Amino acid sequence: MLLIENLSVSYGAVQALKDVSLEVPHGHVTAVIGANGAGKSTLMRTLAGLTKPQSGQVTFNGEVISGRKPEDIVRMGIALVPEGRSTIPELTVEDNLKLGGMWRSHAQRNASLSRAYSLFPVLGERKSMRADTLSGGERQQLAIGRALMTGPQVLLLDEPSLGLAPLIVTQILELVARMAWDSGLAVLLVEQNATVALRIARTGVVLNLGEVVKSGPAAEIASDEELRHAYLGY
Ligand SMILES: Nc1ncnc2c1ncn2[C@@H]1O[C@H](COP(=O)(O)OP(=O)(O)OP(=O)(O)O)[C@@H](O)[C@H]1O
Ligand SMILES: [Mg+2]
Repeated sequence: MLLIENLSVSYGAVQALKDVSLEVPHGHVTAVIGANGAGKSTLMRTLAGLTKPQSGQVTFNGEVISGRKPEDIVRMGIALVPEGRSTIPELTVEDNLKLGGMWRSHAQRNASLSRAYSLFPVLGERKSMRADTLSGGERQQLAIGRALMTGPQVLLLDEPSLGLAPLIVTQILELVARMAWDSGLAVLLVEQNATVALRIARTGVVLNLGEVVKSGPAAEIASDEELRHAYLGY
C-alpha cells in the first residue's frame, strides 16, 4: 500500500498541497478529483519524486519513498503516466514501449510487452507505426502501456481523460480498474472528470486548493450534490 501522510508542497509563495493524507491500497482504484489548480499534478509529481515535499512522508509497503530519486522510485514499483501523454512522437509504438523498464531483464521486458499487447490489442496492431500516427485514445493506451513496462505495483495516472471522447475514457478506465482487481495493482487516478473517475474507483478523495476536503466511498462522493456544486462545478 502507498501511504501519504501530511504531505505539503509549495512553489515559492504558492502552497500547492497542504497536509494531504491518503491511502492507495492494492487491487483498487483510488480517485483524487478536483478542479484546475487543486494540486492534483503536484501530488503525482511528488509521489514520483519529481517535486520535493516541504513536509510530510510517503511510504510504500512500509518503506519511506519521499525524498528519493525518481529513478529509485520507479524501480521500487511506482510508475507515473504524466498529464499530456508523454509518448515520443517519432518513435514507433514498440520502441516507445521498450523505453519503459530499460533496467529490467530481457525476459521480464518481453513478458511485459506481451502483456501490454494483450491488454491493449490496438498497440500490437500498430507496433511498427510511429506514435504520432496514433489517435488520442491510442496514445493514452501507449502511455499506460509504457508505464506497465516497468512492472509496477502502483500506477499513478494523471488526468488520462484529457482531450478524449467520453466513450474512450470509459473503456480505458474500466480496463485499468479490471487490471487493478485482477493483478493487485494499486491505482491512483487524478481527474477533473469526476463522473467517470468515481464510477470506476472504490474510494474518492476531493482536493480543493491543495487540501483534502472529503474522502470516502466513491459512490457516496458521487451522490453528494452539495459537494459536487461546491468543489466540482457540476
Ligand atoms: N512549477 C510550478 N511553479 C509555480 N507554481 C506552480 C508550479 N506547478 C504548479 N503550480 C501551482 O500550483 C497549484 C497546483 O497546480 P497543479 O498543476 O498541481 O494543479 P492540478 O490540480 O493538476 O491542475 P489541472 O487540473 O489544471 O491540471 C496551482 O496554483 C499552480 O499554478
Ligand atoms: Mg494537473
